[in-house]
Amino acid sequence: MDQFTTTSLTAERLREDHLADLVALHLDPEVSRYIGGVRSAERTKAYLAVNMAHWDQHGFGLWALRTSDGTFAGRAGIRHILVDDVDEIEIAYAFKRSLWGQGLASEIATALTHVGLSQLKLPSLIGLVFVGNAASRRVLEKSNYVLERSTHRHGEDVVIYRARR
Ligand SMILES: CC(C)(COP(=O)(O)OP(=O)(O)OC[C@H]1O[C@@H](n2cnc3c(N)ncnc32)[C@H](O)[C@@H]1OP(=O)(O)O)[C@@H](O)C(=O)NCCC(=O)NCCS
Repeated sequence: MDQFTTTSLTAERLREDHLADLVALHLDPEVSRYIGGVRSAERTKAYLAVNMAHWDQHGFGLWALRTSDGTFAGRAGIRHILVDDVDEIEIAYAFKRSLWGQGLASEIATALTHVGLSQLKLPSLIGLVFVGNAASRRVLEKSNYVLERSTHRHGEDVVIYRARR
């Protein structure tokens, strides 16, 4: 599934030439506030390499997102994550600040949940969110994720939501 579309977005499997857009996205402190803080260009380059390798290994991962006019909008996807020593698969999404509040995260979360549970037949997906990230928690709730528990990650309070097949 290298490419798919939703009502408002086109999703492209992450590749080398998305680097400049990802660097700009990760340099915005508001965007990065709840996803580990601002990343330097070097760190985003490493991030891209890790996430391209994830695709090679698992056949799914992160997609770069574009609006209907072809403009880079953000990135989203599903990927393995180790949570308290358990291998889980999480849903992830981040959009350019200028596009917030238009329902795009809800749209891609619904699409990715369908990909993960119905197409890839994964038993469940999690959303792992900083406690204070109210917008992301709302996105997950709207996609029928259920609050499961709280934990700590890299010294931060996070909550885990889960959707089951
Ligand atoms: C979180 C994020 C993806 C949301 O994207 P978005 O496209 O604005 O989300 P949507 O418009 O689909 O929905 C957001 C929902 O949260 C609500 N919301 C937004 N800010 C909120 C706040 N501060 N408190 C409570 N609810 C809030 C909106 O009203 C909306 O709910 P509604 O449809 O019931 O009105 C976006 O803010 C982002 O990219 N943040 C930076 C990266 C990030 O934190 N990613 C998530 C990591 S877990």
